[in-house]
Amino acid sequence: MTRATAAIALGSNLGDREKSLRGALVALERTPGVVVLRRSSWLETAPVGGPPGQGPFLNGAVLLETTLDARALLAELQRIEAKFGRERTVRDAPRTLDLDLLLFADEAIDDPELVVPHPRMEERVFVLEPLAEILPDHVLAGCGETVVARARALKRERMSRLPDPASASAWCRDVIAAGETLGFVPTMGALHAGHLALVECAARENDRVCVSVFVNPLQFNDPRDLERYPRDFEGDADQLEAVGCSMVFSGTLAGFFPDELDATGALIPERLIDAGPAAIGLEGAHRPGHFDGVATIVDRLFDVVQPTRAYFGQKDYQQLQVVRDLARRRAGPEIIGCVTVREDSGLARSSRNALLDDAGRAAGLFLSRALGVADAAWRAGERDARALETLMREVLDGSGLELEYAAVRAARGWSAEAPGGPLESAVALVAARAASVRLIDNHVLGSDPSPQPAAAATGGSSAAS
Ligand code: PAF
Repeated sequence: MTRATAAIALGSNLGDREKSLRGALVALERTPGVVVLRRSSWLETAPVGGPPGQGPFLNGAVLLETTLDARALLAELQRIEAKFGRERTVRDAPRTLDLDLLLFADEAIDDPELVVPHPRMEERVFVLEPLAEILPDHVLAGCGETVVARARALKRERMSRLPDPASASAWCRDVIAAGETLGFVPTMGALHAGHLALVECAARENDRVCVSVFVNPLQFNDPRDLERYPRDFEGDADQLEAVGCSMVFSGTLAGFFPDELDATGALIPERLIDAGPAAIGLEGAHRPGHFDGVATIVDRLFDVVQPTRAYFGQKDYQQLQVVRDLARRRAGPEIIGCVTVREDSGLARSSRNALLDDAGRAAGLFLSRALGVADAAWRAGERDARALETLMREVLDGSGLELEYAAVRAARGWSAEAPGGPLESAVALVAARAASVRLIDNHVLGSDPSPQPAAAATGGSSAAS
C-alpha cells in the first residue's frame, strides 16, 4: 500500500474558532487511512479579501501521512468541513472551518476540482507561517524558496513606511483590532546592529513589529548635538525591512503634539512629563531636562502605537529605568530591556559612533575596558561602590577621554548617589566625551557577556593603540 505525505491548511473565523480547528484535527485523526504526523500552533491573522467587517482568522497547518489518493483525501476534507457547518457558497465569506489541501507528496494536479500544490499558497503568509513550523525546509515549486524563507520574505514585503503619527496610529489600531500582538521599538534613527537586535527580538515575541524614527528635539540639551545627529530615514527603513519589521513611521514635533506647541514651535511647558526619581543623578545631572524629554515623547509614542510590548536597549540603562517607571504609571506596555550589542573591540554600538574619528574610537574603548575591570573586581569579591568607582577611574585616567562620571549603583532600584555598605547587586555606569562626541556605557557586574573582548581583558593603555 503506497503512503503519501500531505500538508493541509486549517482556518476558521466564525464561532468558536479554536474548537473548530481542534475538532477538525480529531476528525482527521479518526479518518481511515490518515495518520496525523505534526501540527503547527494556531496563529491569528486579519482576513484577506472577502466582505468587509469579518473577524480575524485562526490558522494552522497539519502534516499527515495517508494511504488515500489526493482526490479521496480532498473528499474527506470536504466531509469534515460540512460536519463543522461550512457551506461553500460566497467566496472568502466568514467560515467555521476551511481545510485546504496544500501539498500531496510531490504530485502536481491541475483539474477543475483540485489543484495541488495549492495555487495561492506561496503568496499567503497566513498559510506559510504555520506551514513553516511543520515543514520549514520544503522547497516551494513556484518560487524555489523554502517555506520558511518565503514566509519571512512575505512578512518583510508587507512593511509599511508611514510619514506621520496619525497614519501610524490607524495602522496600529487595525493590527490590534485583528487580535495581533504588536512589538514596538522606538528609535531616533541612524540604526545600527543594536537597534536591529531589538527589532529581531520583537519579531520573535510578537505578531507584528513597528518602529518609530524620530529625532526628538525635547531630549537634546545641546542644540549642536541635535543638529548633527545622523539622519537617514530611507536607509533605516531598508534595514528594518530586512529584519522583519512590519511598519516604520516618522513624524514632526507638530505631528506628535498637534495644538500643543506655542507660537515659536516649542512644546507648551505644561505638556512636559516629569520623568520621576530614576531621572535624578548621573545622566539626569549631566543632561538637565533630558529624561523629561524622553518620558514625554515615549509617553506620546505609546499613545500612538498602543504596543503590547516595547523594546529598549540596556545600553541606556538609566533611560530604561525611567521608561519602566513611566510604563508602570500608565499601566503598560510591557517593557523589555535587551542586552547591549558591542563591536568586536568592546565599544558599545551607538548611533553617535558614526561621528568618532580614529582617535575618538580608540579612546572610546577605555569605557568598556573600565567596565571590564570593575566586572573582574566584582567577580573577585569587591562589593564596595567607591572602591569599584576608583578602579574604573584609574583605567579612564589618561585615556584621552573627558570623563563625566564613572559610577556604581545598586542594580535593583535606582538611587541618585552611590549606595553605602556592601552591595548585593551592582551596575557600573560610565559617560565621557571623545572630542565632542558623548559616549555612555554600563554593565551589570557579574552578568554575561562581559563588556570586554578577551584580548583587552588585562586593562592598561596598550590595547587602545
Ligand atoms: O533611546 C532612544 O533612541 C531615544 O531616547 C528614544 C527612546 C527613541 C526616545 O526618543
